[in-house]
Amino acid sequence: MTSEIAARWDELQRACENCTRCPLGKTKTNTVFGCGNRDADLMFVGEAPGEQEDLTGMPFVGRAGQLLDKFLYAVDIKREDVYITNILKCRPPHNRDPLPAEQDMCIDYLREQVRLIKPKIIVCLGRISAMRLIKPDFKITSEHGIWFDKGQFKICAVYHPSLLLRDPRKREDMLRDMQNIKAALDALSGV
Ligand code: URA
Repeated sequence: MTSEIAARWDELQRACENCTRCPLGKTKTNTVFGCGNRDADLMFVGEAPGEQEDLTGMPFVGRAGQLLDKFLYAVDIKREDVYITNILKCRPPHNRDPLPAEQDMCIDYLREQVRLIKPKIIVCLGRISAMRLIKPDFKITSEHGIWFDKGQFKICAVYHPSLLLRDPRKREDMLRDMQNIKAALDALSGV
């Protein structure tokens, strides 16, 4: 990474941490900017930080995150090789769904992260992320695992890991989708 790009990352993260665009900045404990490899081919985008993420400043570290880690391990994707972030960088109170207005005010941070990383594959974790990044009428039950071409990258959505905690019967579908994602990742490097 050039020093110019590193400086843009620093600037973006600082702006995000000091953001006052929406009221969530006042109630958060920590900003959850994102973590992982800033040169990743594969990027995961969830919806918003939960309690553990708010406390630690890291995405997907609570129970849902631990389940995500198991799926990554199962398909041999290393967490440190990918970049993980959310649509919202601050926790909505009581883990409610992000409001459309909050998404509108936060989405530029994600746009800039995508511009800097230039991932080849984006995976939406759950319906909220898919409705924002793929199409507003995205149906997670019938469209999970389907690839959409966005020009610079391909994108698909998988079930949100917190849904899989509540409904373990969907884990088989998740494993299949994650295997397809791993195959798409391997195909990029001709494995
Ligand atoms: N759920 C999300 O969507 N994101 C997190 O970071 C944690 C839980």
